[in-house]
Amino acid sequence: MSDYVPFDAAPTDESRAALSLDAILRGRRSVRRFQARPVPDAAVAAVLEAARWAPSPHGRMPWRFAVLRRAETKARLAAAMAAAWQHNLAMDGQPAEVIAARLRRSQQRLQNAPVLILACLYLNDLDVYPDAERQAAETTMAIQSLGAALQNLLLKAYQLGLDTGWMCAPLFCPQVVVATLDLDPDLLPQALITLGYAAADPKRRERLPLDALVVRWERTAD
Ligand SMILES: Cc1cc2nc3c(=O)[nH]c(=O)nc-3n(C[C@H](O)[C@H](O)[C@H](O)COP(=O)(O)O)c2cc1C
Repeated sequence: MSDYVPFDAAPTDESRAALSLDAILRGRRSVRRFQARPVPDAAVAAVLEAARWAPSPHGRMPWRFAVLRRAETKARLAAAMAAAWQHNLAMDGQPAEVIAARLRRSQQRLQNAPVLILACLYLNDLDVYPDAERQAAETTMAIQSLGAALQNLLLKAYQLGLDTGWMCAPLFCPQVVVATLDLDPDLLPQALITLGYAAADPKRRERLPLDALVVRWERTAD
């Protein structure tokens, strides 16, 4: 891929093409069911390009992405992760039929999303410290910046008329994901983002008021 990918892949849904930033921030939602309609490669490139512009510690960009769209790859990954999850759910003492239903839903969700974007941490370019405390802070910064990169990606997808869902499942079986996809073992899978055209509008989650979130606010008049 060339170094520069235009941000402005043509919106695939004109109704969102001219949305303001505020409308995009408020409009982005987690979608868990998608249409079968394929996602254009240009749109996938545009959302990855948006991620590329996120802030990162020392500007090192400690994130890598894998784009999965083949049915066979998605099914293989879903099955491998389901096996790992089954082990954890059984450890929690959940009834077999509940486990089976949850695994089925999760596998369907992965297989039915037109595109999966696996987001991994890549820590090899970060600073190395002699003490564990600063090293842990370095890793935390990398994780924080992965969140920033993914938020860019989610917002860009929404602007283009697409929707996304964030799945944390890879966090619980990173080695399974790396082995199944034959990835560099230095990659640390963090999340799977499902990408596609929403099959239905999801129920929105309420937000806490700002008063509950801001613990101290010094205003100009104070
Ligand atoms: C780090 C992180 C992990 C998440 N993991 C999951 C997940 O595994 N499955 C899921 O359905 N949603 C997951 N979500 C989505 C949240 O449930 C969702 O963002 C939240 O309920 C607010 O809804 P909204 O995104 O529609 O505004 C995750 C979100 C974040 C930021």
